[in-house]
Amino acid sequence: MGAGAASGGAQLLPEVLAFSSSLPLDRALLKEDVIGSLAHLIMLARTGIVPRETAGRIRDELFTVFGKELPEEEDVHMAVETLLTRALGEEAGMLHTARSRNDQIALDLRLHVREQCALALHELFLLLQELADRAERERDTLLPGYTHRQRAQPVSAAYYLCAWGAMFQRDMRRLHPPSDLPLGVGALAGTSLPIDRHLVRKLLHFGSITANGLDTVGDRDFALDFAYGATRVLLHASRVATDVIDFATSEFGYVTLDDEIAMGSSMMPQKRNPDLFELIRGKCGRAVGNLMSLLVTVKGLPGGYNRDLQEDRQPLLETGPLLVSVLRMLRLGLGRVKFDGARGRAALEDGATAATDIAEALAQTGVPFRTAYKLTGALVRKCAESGVSLSRAPLQLAQQIDPRFTAAVLGAADAVASVARKKNAGGTSRESIEEQIQFLRERAHQAKSLMAHTPRLDALLRELKEAAL
Ligand code: ARG
Repeated sequence: MGAGAASGGAQLLPEVLAFSSSLPLDRALLKEDVIGSLAHLIMLARTGIVPRETAGRIRDELFTVFGKELPEEEDVHMAVETLLTRALGEEAGMLHTARSRNDQIALDLRLHVREQCALALHELFLLLQELADRAERERDTLLPGYTHRQRAQPVSAAYYLCAWGAMFQRDMRRLHPPSDLPLGVGALAGTSLPIDRHLVRKLLHFGSITANGLDTVGDRDFALDFAYGATRVLLHASRVATDVIDFATSEFGYVTLDDEIAMGSSMMPQKRNPDLFELIRGKCGRAVGNLMSLLVTVKGLPGGYNRDLQEDRQPLLETGPLLVSVLRMLRLGLGRVKFDGARGRAALEDGATAATDIAEALAQTGVPFRTAYKLTGALVRKCAESGVSLSRAPLQLAQQIDPRFTAAVLGAADAVASVARKKNAGGTSRESIEEQIQFLRERAHQAKSLMAHTPRLDALLRELKEAAL
């Protein structure tokens, strides 16, 4: 059998084969493909569609393909079939009974996404844990929080870490492994043979079977969901990266990069560049591109399978490893970023970031907030004119503006007290940070348990090797 066996024996032009083959990419799905074939084969044997002895020989042969070189074929499915046929002759052809490459690839891709979800959930678990641990140690490190990249209000480094964790824990919901089995719908319309889809479903640990063959073979929603979930993670990683990159500049100076992650310049000897974080930010572009590529591939396709769908391979197969590596690098990188509390405090001193606290303290004495806001605004300007920091505004100066300013109101400007006072849920106080850290730990454990409940390829392979025929 040569290339073209899938075309009813017709021999494809070599250039056409080269152009149309997905093997260079989908050889990465070999394990998934063998697993799908094993489950299908076991079902064919148990339903009596294929004799048990034949099924046994095919199963043994399926396990040998991992050590062999894949022949030039249209795709990984045909490459495996060719290897089986070389070893077993015509009998190998029984494996493809009641199956099409259309439902086969739909299965392989789901198995791939499920495995990648598990790997990503593991990394998410580690990252959330790292952020929670780190937040516990950075409760007393203060620095400005920003809006519009202008110093806004005092926060702790722990608050930043919890904010980053809050983004990634949301992504967990987007990384749910696909749970519906596509195999058994054939090319589009099902099969006249008495197959048992639920048996295959159980063998492969899927929760349900797809409802309609025409839909199933053209459906890549699970791939789009995964690509979007991954893109969301990378978007979040890119935003964290920008905070770190900015904070590592001498202009901000709130963090320093450990030698293990700071990169130099080939010309400027003084440089300690945040290349790692720039690359994390840069890789996000790829994820966005891959998502777009998948969306455009699916857009406007007629019902059923169309070969255009093969173009899902590059963006989808790139997504999982990209996601996992970025999560891992972010964790390793953040673990080697040190906060400089003195720089943070200095920025709070001359940033008038206490203005809101003073206005709120004044409002608490009964002054309407809008009035308190205006009076504090006037105080900020007066302090700037007289060259004193707002956090050290003399009472006398404040009372020239309004006698309702008191020493206690001005005392609200202290950054430590300011952070401690934001006691409401989601705020910066010690109690609130405690809750946020607790929340991240819970979410980390949910990620871990979701991962633990996700069936893995190697375990499946072992199960299917032993399963009765
Ligand atoms: N290589 C194809 C793909 O990955 C497999 C399905 C081919 N089906 C077909 N009818 N030509 O999408």
